[in-house]
Amino acid sequence: MQPILDVSPPKWHLAHTTWFFENFLLVPYLKDYKVCNSEYNYLFNSYYETVGERVLRPNRGNLTRPGVEEVYKYRAYVDQFMADLLDEDLEQDVLDILEIGLQHEQQHQELLVYDIKYILGMNPIFPVYRINTEIDSSDSKIADPSFVTLVEGIYTVGHQGVGFCFDNELGTHKVYVNPCRIMDRLVTNAEYLTFMEAGGYNKFQYWLAEGWDWVNQEKVQAPLHWHRVEGEWHQYELIGGLKKLNLDHPVCHVSYFEADAYARWSGKRLPTEYEWEVASQTTLLNSLDTANLVNKENFGTMAQQSGNSQMLGDVWEWTSSSYAPYPNYQIAEGALGEYNGKFMINQMVLRGGSCATATNHIRTTYRNFFHPHLRWLFSGIRLAESI
Ligand SMILES: [Fe+2]
Repeated sequence: MQPILDVSPPKWHLAHTTWFFENFLLVPYLKDYKVCNSEYNYLFNSYYETVGERVLRPNRGNLTRPGVEEVYKYRAYVDQFMADLLDEDLEQDVLDILEIGLQHEQQHQELLVYDIKYILGMNPIFPVYRINTEIDSSDSKIADPSFVTLVEGIYTVGHQGVGFCFDNELGTHKVYVNPCRIMDRLVTNAEYLTFMEAGGYNKFQYWLAEGWDWVNQEKVQAPLHWHRVEGEWHQYELIGGLKKLNLDHPVCHVSYFEADAYARWSGKRLPTEYEWEVASQTTLLNSLDTANLVNKENFGTMAQQSGNSQMLGDVWEWTSSSYAPYPNYQIAEGALGEYNGKFMINQMVLRGGSCATATNHIRTTYRNFFHPHLRWLFSGIRLAESI
């Protein structure tokens, strides 16, 4: 099913990531390859104008055919020919496309977690994705945050060195960071509740104009997946289903508008993406081992462990930076030039990965981006302040 525009049917993700390999590798580079089904190019193309006509995203939910079984057959067909292709001696430019195909599939695996949570979490009987075998401790308390100083100066940002990155991270350049402080952990549910109880959703003073329109039109009074049951706040989780809100977890499923309003209410602000990246270079980075990424299979947030800054993992952190090209940004030639560049309008940058991101997919230079009203992703808040 496709309950809202941004949530794609799970089988569509399976077919679309398969189509990427078929279309960008098998068709151009495997001799005598015959496409599995010529209609699939239309059905499972996502946004590549270069590659021809496509089913528009709002209509993905209408795809009653092909069914899931046929999609898995398509996947097996493409896998088999990909194995043939990989047996060949491939040029570097083909290997580069292969790597993008793998990274692209990891991105869709992450979206699939958001989508499954949305589909189950909007179902009135709140089906449980996985039974909870551990008992939540409700008495742990998170210490008040500290704010770590970033020393004023010129810093280099952007991806450097070897290893994969997307084109939007390339073009290292210098930025000037004014003196500021950045929070040493994420904002918790308890802290966000204080904002709600102070009437945060009902006072226009805290909101950007578009955010205030959004709150009123959508009648937003709490983060997504929060439900008030018999006077107590609960949260739908993939593991364990609808549970009492764990006050120590980072607040999750908030839009940019909510993150910005919370920051304004608390007398602080969101960090810029440069401040975030500099903080990760200097003082605040947590290790990939301690990060709550998808490999831990929590599929949800975790309470902060002492000394863990939560920069990587748990939730993507909204920054106050709009998603724009870096000064030296180059759009690649051909269809893959459509991968990032054309989306650099009206979206905000998020940093740090989430509990749905793979360990070998995230980097401190990684720039994720979403429209400011969206919150079905695992998104949260870290505060900053100028000094
Ligand atoms: Fe895609």
